[in-house]
Amino acid sequence: MTNSSATPRIPTIVLGGTGYVAGELLRLLAGHPRFELAAVMSDSQPGEPVANAFPHLAAAYADTRFKSQSEVQALVTGTAECAVFSAAPHGVSAALIDSLLTAASRAGTRPRVVDISADFRFRSAAQYEAVYKHAHEAPARLAEFTCALPEHLRKLDTPHVAHPGCFATAMLLASVPLLSLGLVPPVLFVSGVTGSTGAGRKPVEGTHHPLRHSDLYSYGALTHRHAPEAAACARAATGVEAEFAFVPHSGPFARGIHVTVQAPLRAPADTSTVLAALREFYGGSPFVRVKDAAPRVKEVATTNYAHLCAAASGRSVAVMCAIDNLNKGAAGGAVQWMNRMFGLPETDGLTACAPGWT
Ligand SMILES: NC(=O)c1ccc[n+]([C@@H]2O[C@H](COP(=O)([O-])OP(=O)(O)OC[C@H]3O[C@@H](n4cnc5c(N)ncnc54)[C@H](OP(=O)(O)O)[C@@H]3O)[C@@H](O)[C@H]2O)c1
Repeated sequence: MTNSSATPRIPTIVLGGTGYVAGELLRLLAGHPRFELAAVMSDSQPGEPVANAFPHLAAAYADTRFKSQSEVQALVTGTAECAVFSAAPHGVSAALIDSLLTAASRAGTRPRVVDISADFRFRSAAQYEAVYKHAHEAPARLAEFTCALPEHLRKLDTPHVAHPGCFATAMLLASVPLLSLGLVPPVLFVSGVTGSTGAGRKPVEGTHHPLRHSDLYSYGALTHRHAPEAAACARAATGVEAEFAFVPHSGPFARGIHVTVQAPLRAPADTSTVLAALREFYGGSPFVRVKDAAPRVKEVATTNYAHLCAAASGRSVAVMCAIDNLNKGAAGGAVQWMNRMFGLPETDGLTACAPGWT
């Protein structure tokens, strides 16, 4: 793609080409003022038109074709500085990123990476292996990544970032203020509902439309791998060792996540006190809105915004959070980080409103 603007564009690479998150990254990059797609890598379809995999993106990528790993590596080693987003599956992403970073380091180039997979979310390979049940592919690189939400970390001390993931984004936005302000003890009860795009492009029985449509069911109750990931991020953000008793659900919609976090309050409080605390906590966060009314998925679906609300009564508090899983929970959250990593306004390319009637 070309751009006539005088402001230099930042070459940008997307890994995990034909996946849903990669598609969402391409959609966001098409409207971004500074990041310009240099290559989107596909393991399964190098050379094929991007618009075949993503017909809804044809207007932006009519002449763009997927690239192979070697073509992407040539770009990374031939470009002084570029932005790399990985939307490859966990277990694949770490090795792919490691090989690109190794080649870049030999060539003296400096790519910045945001990994949207789970591969760099934990601080140690042992933690990763305990949750994912296979060896980590690049343990020596774990220290180069920070896993956090931009809302919860002001200063980044590593060259690269690991996105916390979609459910964890909603859980952390709702619970980090409660933990940080010491309003609740460190056990949080979380119920979350996700849309079907959370399961990725490949159809499987549990995400098949006739089964999922008009239905609602839990899965992985209290055993889901996103609970320890959220706990690790919450510890890094607050210093509190919290437990997330998490029950995820499959929702009958394509995009969005709704999470409810409940906990006992250390001291009785009313709803207005908790709402005021949340509003103060997120005062400098352009993508978080604390509302008086219950947040709804359609208010934020397809956007990088998160809507929160809270209720408190006696010694109980509930915080509700709605986000879009593919945008704020993946591609948008990653672009938000990359904006910051390149010194751009954090909101660049991310302020589109929700369509409302998805
Ligand atoms: N879906 C969500 O809401 C969401 C939210 C947060 C985080 N994530 C994470 O983001 C990543 C992508 O998720 P997704 O939903 O987009 O998954 P997806 O739709 O299944 O896409 C993943 C893509 O990765 C590529 N891939 C698969 N095997 C590969 C291999 N062996 N080597 C290289 N590339 C391979 C494939 O594209 P090519 O064959 O074209 O390369 C595939 O389409 C995952 O790590 C997921 O956990 C997803």
